[in-house]
Amino acid sequence: MKSDFISIFNLTKQEIFEIFELTKKLKESQKKGIQHKMLKDKTLAMIFEKPSLRTRVTFETGMTQLGGHAIYLGPGDAKIGARETVADAGKNLSRWVDLIMARVFVHKTVEDLAKSATIPVINGLCDLEHPCQIMCDLFTIIEKKGSLDTVVIAYLGDGNNVCNSFIAGSALLGFQLNIATPKGYEPNKEYLAKSKTVALVNDPKKAVTHADIVYTDVWASMGQETEAEARKEIFKPFQVNSQLLELANKNYLVMHCLPAHRGEEITDEVIEGKHSIVFDQAENRLHIQKAIMVWLLKQ
Ligand code: CP
Ligand code: NVA
Repeated sequence: MKSDFISIFNLTKQEIFEIFELTKKLKESQKKGIQHKMLKDKTLAMIFEKPSLRTRVTFETGMTQLGGHAIYLGPGDAKIGARETVADAGKNLSRWVDLIMARVFVHKTVEDLAKSATIPVINGLCDLEHPCQIMCDLFTIIEKKGSLDTVVIAYLGDGNNVCNSFIAGSALLGFQLNIATPKGYEPNKEYLAKSKTVALVNDPKKAVTHADIVYTDVWASMGQETEAEARKEIFKPFQVNSQLLELANKNYLVMHCLPAHRGEEITDEVIEGKHSIVFDQAENRLHIQKAIMVWLLKQ
């Protein structure tokens, strides 16, 4: 049976580490210039209902490096669910290509696509999760800190898709995750109920105290642009800035999934500072994407 990658919860702990192992190997091969055309002649269809820099470029580049090909279908192209049903799109694509990656507004769209398609479907971000991002972030933390077992991760800001995938990661892998959001912007309750290692607080100082990793995301996600001005006021105390970071552990690292709104959720000084690993993190999107595609097609 084919496997999909719609949620972090689609994987077991063992499978997550298998993908990390593969990511490491693919990254080493890429750095050494060793060819690794493991998906030769395979085609990936990429459906984007929203904009993207990292997800689009890393999936497309990844497919090229693996010997395959990627087709970009932007918001004006497939229009799944409008020109035809999501299921019909899934059935059509299954007759032509080997893999689908979809960035959608509503989680159900990517679920319906996976149900109708006979090929693996990857969630490239929806309203509920951003699983590819969190796989990349956890891999990056292990690269920098050696393990997830001893680190305390603080997530500050909106309890959104990225935050939910982080919680799913903590449920499966058991790392300590301190989340600070403004009241009313907490993450998904069902996800919270599944993790024993999440501390949900509304105080950014409490979350950052003794943290090894401080992570943030935009205050208004794609599709929430009309709320952006109001959110700027509500989220102000959750800004990742030098003063707040004084509470973190000595060798703390700062992460952001990007795009960043400098001066809002994170200051220029912090993102450019010596504790920031945001561009190493962004680089790893390429390596993790490749591993996820290879892994799904091997199942
Ligand atoms: N982090 C991330 O998914 O970036 P894009 O929105 O640019 O793809
Ligand atoms: N939470 C953000 C993540 C962007 C990668 C969004 O959904 O826009």
